[in-house]
Amino acid sequence: MIKAAKFLSVQALCIAGSLLPATHAARAQPVLRVCIDSSSPTAARDQAVADRVARQAGLTLAVTPFNGGSGDDDGVSAKEFRAMLTSACELVMGYPVDTAGPALPPGLLATKPYAQTGFVLVTAPGETARSLSDLPNGTEIAVTYETAPNLYFARHGNVLADVHMSDAETMQTIASGKVKAAMLWRPTVDEYEAHPGAVNLGVFPLDEPHARYDVVALYLPRSARQAESFNATKISVDASAPAAGLPALFTDTQAKAGYAKFLGNCAQCHGTHLEGRSGPALKGPNWANAKADYTVGEVFTVVSQQMPATGPGSLEHADYEQIMAYLLQQNGYPAGDKPLQFDQATMSKVKLLYHGS
Ligand code: HEC
Repeated sequence: MIKAAKFLSVQALCIAGSLLPATHAARAQPVLRVCIDSSSPTAARDQAVADRVARQAGLTLAVTPFNGGSGDDDGVSAKEFRAMLTSACELVMGYPVDTAGPALPPGLLATKPYAQTGFVLVTAPGETARSLSDLPNGTEIAVTYETAPNLYFARHGNVLADVHMSDAETMQTIASGKVKAAMLWRPTVDEYEAHPGAVNLGVFPLDEPHARYDVVALYLPRSARQAESFNATKISVDASAPAAGLPALFTDTQAKAGYAKFLGNCAQCHGTHLEGRSGPALKGPNWANAKADYTVGEVFTVVSQQMPATGPGSLEHADYEQIMAYLLQQNGYPAGDKPLQFDQATMSKVKLLYHGS
């Protein structure tokens, strides 16, 4: 016995010796382990974000795919998340949290948001409506049983519910043209749109309770260091990633009033068409691009605190709101029925990317 043990230990030493260089290398480049739902249409985006975090933090990325079963209402349970975070990874990507009241699985923490998702209004080709209140009286809207959008009918007397038992069925109903509109969970629509031959539908975020979600990564308290790396990484959500609809952040009235005020206060330096003069251009792919990685809040803060350069902060709050509405409209953002408000605009994390043509 003793002999055997001795033999073993010598052999173990030899093995350890032969492995030393590899172990050493692994230590020099620590690993960031993430779990990604490979069944989600946003898996590629989740992977790109994780790549970026690892690169900036000098970590080697190790991805463990899992099947969250898209289309299945049950999804992944809190217990399964915990199991993954205990054994397979430090971060689980792609978890949606309601912006109205973030609810996380018990015991788990969330990184900063790295994308937006939620329930969207989907409209048939040729429809001009961009929100529920735009739809003509009596319009039937396909919706999935027991999802938040069922509550919106009570707030909008002009529309009627056409209830289906699954997201797949609701998606099919709007895609086949049986209804003019539907309300769906955005990833369901993204998944549909990824198929060749998909009908070109309108997709607009809903400005309703419990419709807006932030996408975060989940972690356990013991992975706080990895979460810190995540939060320290500047993340630009690729404009070409599946994210069809843009949020409506201002009203048409604001944008129109904003144009007049822009001419009066800003155009002398930024040009009458935002093309730039002594001040930089404020429109187009050379300005609001993924590299610049602006949020609406960052740009609005510059505008409201440093502009006009001749009198920083000298305009009324309403003037800044309107000018910002004009600036967003010119960069391809849609008008909606809720006005842009000063404090909300200052804090907005919505990406400002040029979406015009
Ligand atoms: C007297 C000239 C002048 C006027 C008037 C002026 N700006 Fe500027 N603006 C500038 C200059 C110059 C810069 C660049 C400053 C810098 O980068 O440090 C700038 C920068 C900006 C930026 C930041 C652009 C970026 O990419 O960093 C925004 C946004 C902006 N201005 C908006 C406005 C708006 C809106 C108004 C009107 C309310 C306005 N400006 C009025 C000269 C002006």
